[in-house]
Amino acid sequence: MEQNSGSIKKIVLAYSGGLDTSVMLYWLKEKYQCPVMAMVADVGQSEDLEAIEKKAYETGADQVVISDLRESFIRDFVFPAMQAHALYEGEYLLGTALARPVIAVEQINQARDWGSNAVAHGATGKGNDQVRFELTFQALAPELKILAPWRMWKFQGRSDLIEYAQSKGISVTSSEEKPYSIDQNIMHTSYEGGVLEDPWQSPPEDIFLRTVSPQQAPDSVTQVEIEFEEGLPVRLNNEQMGPVEILQQLNRLAGANGVGRVDLVENRMVGMKSRGVYETPGLTVLYKAHSALESLTLDRQVQRLKAELALQISELIYYGFWFAPEMQLLLQLVKNSQEHVTGKVRMDLYKGNCTVLGRSSPYSLYDPSYATFEADQVYQQSDAEGFIRLQGLRLKIASLLRGRPVSAVPGAQEPYGESEKDEKALGRSV
Ligand code: ARG
Repeated sequence: MEQNSGSIKKIVLAYSGGLDTSVMLYWLKEKYQCPVMAMVADVGQSEDLEAIEKKAYETGADQVVISDLRESFIRDFVFPAMQAHALYEGEYLLGTALARPVIAVEQINQARDWGSNAVAHGATGKGNDQVRFELTFQALAPELKILAPWRMWKFQGRSDLIEYAQSKGISVTSSEEKPYSIDQNIMHTSYEGGVLEDPWQSPPEDIFLRTVSPQQAPDSVTQVEIEFEEGLPVRLNNEQMGPVEILQQLNRLAGANGVGRVDLVENRMVGMKSRGVYETPGLTVLYKAHSALESLTLDRQVQRLKAELALQISELIYYGFWFAPEMQLLLQLVKNSQEHVTGKVRMDLYKGNCTVLGRSSPYSLYDPSYATFEADQVYQQSDAEGFIRLQGLRLKIASLLRGRPVSAVPGAQEPYGESEKDEKALGRSV
């Protein structure tokens, strides 16, 4: 009851019903002696929310609120990230990183409605999630006090928590004794820790909750057709669907075909490397379909610009800067780029792969009469001659004035690369 206890009046805790946040709920009440709300964010983690509500009251919550954030999560965070083709370190689709700001926003809303002056989260002091929660709080609600119990209390790890929970009569379920950390929402499931901490060990097959292994997937192909309007998926196999339903259906179809598993060693924002295993079935299909449609409908230089920005956007998402001004600017740019990303993509899902079979759009920039190898009327092949000559002009001038040995291959590397002759030609001593 020492630090801050005077100024903390009411706390909104992001509560999952798991071991950490249950201990936290009890601990916050004990430490601050003030009302605590357990805010349960439904981001599609497919858990028994009523049981979580009951557990929160049993653990001492003064108020429990369950907020269905699934639609906002997908519409306002997941789909914009998909349109940007944001992939952290080339592989991670950012399912956890995208869910944190939507949960933090709801905590702020609840805190304001309930008249509370503090928010608390269950993220540890070693990971990325603490940063994502707290940057969102700072950007949108600088007046709120932020409590991160993992950085304050004396507990060192899970066994300390289990011991404390048992001493206080907080129930500990068997799944909470699982040896690895799981984070789940409608977009993905992530696994870290335990056996996965050895990056040489493959993930045990029985950890996976939403995809079959490609080896177990059916021998027949599943075809899907996805229709987009201005960059947003609106129809699956000719049936109109909202964002939640379309993602649920795609998760089911892709998961059954082993699509969307990723295993990587990633660089956390706070500095260390960490091994993460992910299942993101539906979104993996949507990313690919969306890219295929952009290949037809976007101008070349717009595609290029988007690809360059995708790296920046993925880092901003991973690092928790969703509400930073530069991110809002980039998101606006991505949104504007989607005006003509309307059309259909056909795909095959088969044993861990999703393959584009065809794409079409009323706004297609692809015109076979330009690309054809057949005789054509629209393109003068003789135009290419002067075009190439001018493209090469500076190369030609440099070569004429300075000389350029034909055998020099600067990119070649040992042990394949440069022969003695090349070394000489490059003017190096052999
Ligand atoms: N490494 C991923 C990320 O930083 C997943 C984190 C999962 N969080 C968790 N509390 N298990 O986005």
